[in-house]
Parts: sequence; C-alpha cells; structure tokens
Amino acid sequence: MATTITSAIKLPSGFEIPRLGFGVYKTPPADTERCCLEALKAGYRHIDSAAIYRNESGCGDAIRGSKIPREQIFFTSKVINISYDGAKAQIDESLALSKLDYIDLMLLHQPRGGSENRKGAWLALVEAVEAGKIRSIGVSNYGVHHLNELEAYISKLETERGGKGRGGILSINQVELHPWLGRKDIADWCTARGVFLEAYCPIVRGARFDEPSVQKLADKYGKTPAQVLIRWSLDKGFIPLPKSVTSDRIVANADVFDFSLTGEEVRALETDEYSPVAWDPTVTRLDE
Ligand SMILES: NC(=O)c1ccc[n+]([C@@H]2O[C@H](COP(=O)([O-])OP(=O)(O)OC[C@H]3O[C@@H](n4cnc5c(N)ncnc54)[C@H](OP(=O)(O)O)[C@@H]3O)[C@@H](O)[C@H]2O)c1
Repeated sequence: MATTITSAIKLPSGFEIPRLGFGVYKTPPADTERCCLEALKAGYRHIDSAAIYRNESGCGDAIRGSKIPREQIFFTSKVINISYDGAKAQIDESLALSKLDYIDLMLLHQPRGGSENRKGAWLALVEAVEAGKIRSIGVSNYGVHHLNELEAYISKLETERGGKGRGGILSINQVELHPWLGRKDIADWCTARGVFLEAYCPIVRGARFDEPSVQKLADKYGKTPAQVLIRWSLDKGFIPLPKSVTSDRIVANADVFDFSLTGEEVRALETDEYSPVAWDPTVTRLDE
C-alpha cells in the first residue's frame, strides 16, 4: 500500500498534514495526555483539539513529552468565539495552554456570529499566521454560503492588503462526513478549489457498525467496521479524525494502511441520507 500512517498531504498553505488525525472531543482533560501519548506511540502524528474541548493543555503535554521532534507532529485547535477580538485572544490562550511555540492549524470552529464577526475572526487568523503563531488556517462547519462569503472576503483583503496571499489561504474545511452524510455541495466546492476536507465523526460514533454494507467489507478484508469506515474516508481523499480514549481502539483505528477499498466499494457504501450524529452549523443563516 502506498500510504502509511505518517503519509501527508500538502495543504494550500504549503505545509504538510498527516492523512490520519486523532480526535480528542470529549476526551477528559485529565486523561488527554495519556490518550495522546498512546496515539503518538501507535503512529498518529496529528491531533485534533479545540478550545471548547478544554484539553489543549494535555495535548501540548503529550506533544512536548513524546520526544518526537515538534515538526513531525501536527496540532490543530479551533476558535469558538467568532469575532476579531475573540479569535485574537483565543489564539494566544491556545498557545499558552498547549505551551507550544506555534499551532499547525487553527480553524474557526463554526460559522455562527454574523457576517462581520466571521470576517473579523478570519482576519485575526491571517494576522496570527503573519506573526508566526499559526502555520495553516481554515474553517469548520462552513456551508457553501459561508464559504462563498469567505472567498469574497479573502479577495477583498488581498486588494486592500497588497496582493495574493495577504487575505489568508483557506486550507481546510472540517465537517461531519461519512457514508450517511456525503455533503456533496460542500465537498464539490472545496475540491474545485483545492481545499481539503477533514472528516469528523468518521466512524459515526459507532452508530452504523451493523449496516450490512459495512459488515460485508469488514468480512471481506478481515477488518472491523470502524476500520472500514476510516478507510472509506481515506479513500475518498478526506482526512479522518477518529476519536477514542480506549487503548486497543486507539491502536486499531490506525491499523488501516494495509488495505484499501476499490472505487466500486467506496461508491457502494455511499447513501443519499442526511443523517448527522453531531450538531450541524453548516445550515446557519448568514445573518445568524
Ligand atoms: N469541528 C467540529 O464541530 C467537530 C464535531 C465533532 C467532532 N469533531 C472532531 O472529530 C473527532 C471525531 O469525532 P467524534 O469523536 O464525535 O466521533 P467518532 O470518532 O466517529 O466516534 C467516537 C466514538 O466512537 C467510539 N469508538 C472509537 N473507536 C471505536 C472502535 N474501534 N470501535 C467501537 N467504538 C469506537 C469512541 O469511544 P471511546 O472513546 O470510549 O473508545 C467514541 O464514543 C472529535 O474527537 C473531534 O476531534 C469536530
């Protein structure tokens, strides 16, 4: 198999992101360092946290304590307070809590807050990249209408601030994605522009392990349903972020690089369902 757990994709920002991430939503703060150290030992090199998870400190402790060179680990956090001042303050807080010199990827966690605040929060990300605090930037839970607004704002910033790149480079949109939530409109928008999609809830929080379509592939490849769903995400070109606090699951969820699904199998798993298992802020109105 060509890809391995440390295989990376080059983002529009120019920095590389490992293909598989380790999610830490709902990972208790007191247990986060242990989980992340186990993940790093299992080979993950990419941790997905957020200010609202309240566990950036444990992530940072694991990254620094692992003895793996910092540049080999990719750390993501997310801004929850969507405004210029909120994002600016939050970036500094995330750096202080994680005790890292820089954050690899900072996302706007969700689009709620209204147009001016969304734009202000983006400008705060752009300035933090220019200050060396963050390497790559992106958004999460953005629907096509939010993405169009952002694209127009980036162009405006480029004009006002002196050229290409000065409006910030959109590298990622992180959304819930799995065979029961394909989000074709969002995926097509991103793919057309070279923006990568990170898939949250890639194993659907365990809710679909019994689906016959999943079971069939699990039997064929001698893999678990979770491994089949993570592989589906990788084979779609997404960056899946499975989460677990359970030692053997942390290891098993990363054991997905010795097989791959055929194009036909990838398509056969897909459905037309709209069945999120988490929140769905992608449908937020522009004025909300
Ligand atoms: N941007 C956003 O708005 C947003 C929203 C949601 C999630 N996320 C990110 O995406 C990550 C993943 O999403 P998620 O945590 O909601 O869902 P998920 O990864 O699809 O599922 C996690 C759940 O599945 C269980 N699990 C993990 N591996 C398993 C396995 N091999 N067999 C059976 N059960 C297994 C976990 O239990 P244990 O932990 O008890 O093992 C946990 O309850 C998050 O941690 C976070 O980083 C982002």
